[in-house]
Amino acid sequence: MDNYDVRDLALAEEGRLRIEWAGREMPVNGLIKERFAREKPLEGVRISACLHITTETANLALTLREGGADVVLCASNPLSTQDDVAAALVEYGIPVNAIKGEDDGTYYRHITTAIEHRPQITMDDGADLVSTIHKKYADLSHEVVGGTEETTTGVIRLRNMAGSGNLNYPVIAVNDARTKHFFDNRYGTGQSTIDGVTRATNILWAGRTVVVCGYGFCGKGIASRAQGMGAHVIVTEVDPILALEAVMDGYRVMPLLEACDEGQVFITVTGDKSVLDRAHFMRMRDGAIVANSGHFNVEINIPALEDLAKSKRKVRPFVEEYTIAGGVHIYLLGEGRLINLAAAEGHPASVMDMSFANQALCVERLVVAKGEMGRDVYPVPDDIDREVGKLKLTSMNLVIDSLTEEQEEYLGSWESGT
Ligand code: NAI
Repeated sequence: MDNYDVRDLALAEEGRLRIEWAGREMPVNGLIKERFAREKPLEGVRISACLHITTETANLALTLREGGADVVLCASNPLSTQDDVAAALVEYGIPVNAIKGEDDGTYYRHITTAIEHRPQITMDDGADLVSTIHKKYADLSHEVVGGTEETTTGVIRLRNMAGSGNLNYPVIAVNDARTKHFFDNRYGTGQSTIDGVTRATNILWAGRTVVVCGYGFCGKGIASRAQGMGAHVIVTEVDPILALEAVMDGYRVMPLLEACDEGQVFITVTGDKSVLDRAHFMRMRDGAIVANSGHFNVEINIPALEDLAKSKRKVRPFVEEYTIAGGVHIYLLGEGRLINLAAAEGHPASVMDMSFANQALCVERLVVAKGEMGRDVYPVPDDIDREVGKLKLTSMNLVIDSLTEEQEEYLGSWESGT
């Protein structure tokens, strides 16, 4: 096998141990893997997956391969790859093209290598694979049976493609499954973002003023975890209803510019661009830390910060110190890339268990439904979502009630009032 590009194959043993460790926390994935091994529902299906190369993704790739798929992987972010995991996957016989810290040219070259696999199924986290296929290899896009998309930003891009008639095959929005965004976006991003900022800076959260920009599922998770660590949390939003929710959840809400007067740590997680902009940097206090956990590194306007800076230096791994007018220091973490994956290990495996169970089952569904779905973005079928929830509960030894016949009838009726 020579169709791979990883940092160092000597890291494989370390990666294999970590993949096994994560696998222990992924029982739902394990059950699907066992069934896939028996039934081989993906026999001979070529899959190209553009995902964060982490221990959890490795477990997903092994499950797909167990189902008979011919899988290749590339990274969905230049800074999120775990080089030991990439090496281990190559040793498992799964080609990976991804190196942590790769430049943009290498990042897109690796995506191109994944496209040269001529996928029948694409798997994306951010839609870079789908958009590159459509932009540069449109002919190949007609061979693709379907795709899956892992994250909010990718789903937004795909809906824009479908809306303008530019999507050539069906894609299932895995992000929108309840067993995905209720847990992965909230608890996964919440915990791992705090972890990433902590590992990069070793700050004490207790007593610190933390500004969370965006109160979607990820923002709710980050705000609650920061508060749980003793931070004073300010939320900024552009959606009036979510701003209200933040207020009633107990946070202070104000315009970001005002929050700059007191914020000590700023975390963007909006899926939007230039949320932290020139005017904000100019108003920040000395020592402000800025980090992003949204998908792309455009939420913090780094060119504006560069332009304002009188000098800059790297003071720790993942920490860049910018000195702007008046001697104010601003600390940018992880080059503005998703900090939970840049400086920490991403989401805990237990939560990715559900996200990736959805991925595996949606890939299977796309293969079964070959040719029956139109060129659109589809929700995760409800039976898959519920099945993943049930299996996760079972794996936690939890049992819940079910509706009685009388209750089902009542809930399905309209006649009875009092
Ligand atoms: P969401 O759509 O639930 O929430 C985003 C929120 O940001 C919305 O409420 C929106 O009103 C708000 N917003 C937009 N522009 C804003 C602005 N200028 N100022 C303040 N608020 C603004 O999305 P979700 O699921 O929370 O995802 C957010 C981002 O995080 C996306 O880019 C997503 O792909 C990414 N993500 C990152 C993960 C990670 O591992 N770091 C995991 C999951 C998602």
